[in-house]
Amino acid sequence: MPTSPPSAAQTPQSQTALPLAAASTSAARPVEVLDGKIMIVDHEPVNVLVAKKHLQAAGYSNFETTVDTANALQSIIAAGPDVLLLDVNMPNANGIEILRELRNRPGFRHLPVLILTANDDASVKLSCLELGATDFLIKPVDPMELAPRVRNALQNKCFQDQLQHHTEDLEETIQQRTADLERSRREVIYCLARAAELRDNDTGNHVIRVGRFAGLIAGQLGLPDWYVEDIELAAQLHDVGKIAVPDAILLKPGRLMPSEFAVIQTHVKLGHQIIKPHTINDGSSRRRSSYEECPIERDSGSLMRLAASITQTHHEKFDGSGYPLGLAGEDIPLEGRITAVADVYDALASERPYKKPMPREKCFSILEESRGSHFDPRVLDAFFAAVPEILKVQAEYRDHYNHDAAPDAGSA
Ligand SMILES: [Fe+2]
Repeated sequence: MPTSPPSAAQTPQSQTALPLAAASTSAARPVEVLDGKIMIVDHEPVNVLVAKKHLQAAGYSNFETTVDTANALQSIIAAGPDVLLLDVNMPNANGIEILRELRNRPGFRHLPVLILTANDDASVKLSCLELGATDFLIKPVDPMELAPRVRNALQNKCFQDQLQHHTEDLEETIQQRTADLERSRREVIYCLARAAELRDNDTGNHVIRVGRFAGLIAGQLGLPDWYVEDIELAAQLHDVGKIAVPDAILLKPGRLMPSEFAVIQTHVKLGHQIIKPHTINDGSSRRRSSYEECPIERDSGSLMRLAASITQTHHEKFDGSGYPLGLAGEDIPLEGRITAVADVYDALASERPYKKPMPREKCFSILEESRGSHFDPRVLDAFFAAVPEILKVQAEYRDHYNHDAAPDAGSA
């Protein structure tokens, strides 16, 4: 014959199954229900003692109590209980107002609150319920009711804590995975860019420098942070099309025949063919702001669209005499105009196995002479404004054989 379950007050150990604030991967210490911190706020010391005695008999031991009702709110906040037993009608304080204040504080919005009141007024009950009171107990408190109601409240708190910690763990995992993905993406792009440069007897630092220069120029132009980050990566791929240029021409020492130079020039088209299939579209339909000329917002395809555009347009010239499309002025995508300055400066200022680096002032004067013909004047101004940072990048990513190519600190 089935028997009625024993009351919680009779079997305190039966309440220990669920942990408070416990989560599978959380560093927070699991707290058993019986260890939950119970706070009792009542202006009558005897009421506090009676409630505490009943709960102690049920196995609870973690208490905070106060009869200083004027400072009750501060005491509750300082104690951070797992459940609150709150009187309503108190001198110097009103339980409803305390409850309202608590619900306005992020850490207390879901705190279980059991209202202890001698007032059976329906309007008081309604006010408390609207503010999220968990339960009501009419004074004098029935000890048979108190412990199970406190247990239920603590179990609810336990579930809330578990859910909260699970959500936090999930958010942390997502952030970590996103960071891992971003790091992988950067590494893959760099490897691809470096593969192309190594065919050209370069160290791989050229692509990093061009990317960093492009980012610095974009920053000086006041472009959004995401665009600065993306162009720094995308510009590293500017010469990826060299992968498909025959060795006999790409690696030929000395001057190239016009026909051979024409083959070299195909690297912009080849690079575009390599990158473009991985873009969502070619960017022509992307919204661009009227002045900044960069896409208004970032999306999952922004980076590769930028890279495709750069591979195709970094040899265009502002006066229309460049290749492959012969675009002029602001018909050349901004990223192409930016990368053109970055690429030419690095080619001039860096040592290669077959040439010495050009003195910095000479590099600057060559860029200046091409203002408005090869280079967009506004982009060139941004380059010169970024020179202090550009010199730091040159020093940081100096080619290993480039011992004499350190930036000339005295000539800038
Ligand atoms: Fe190129």
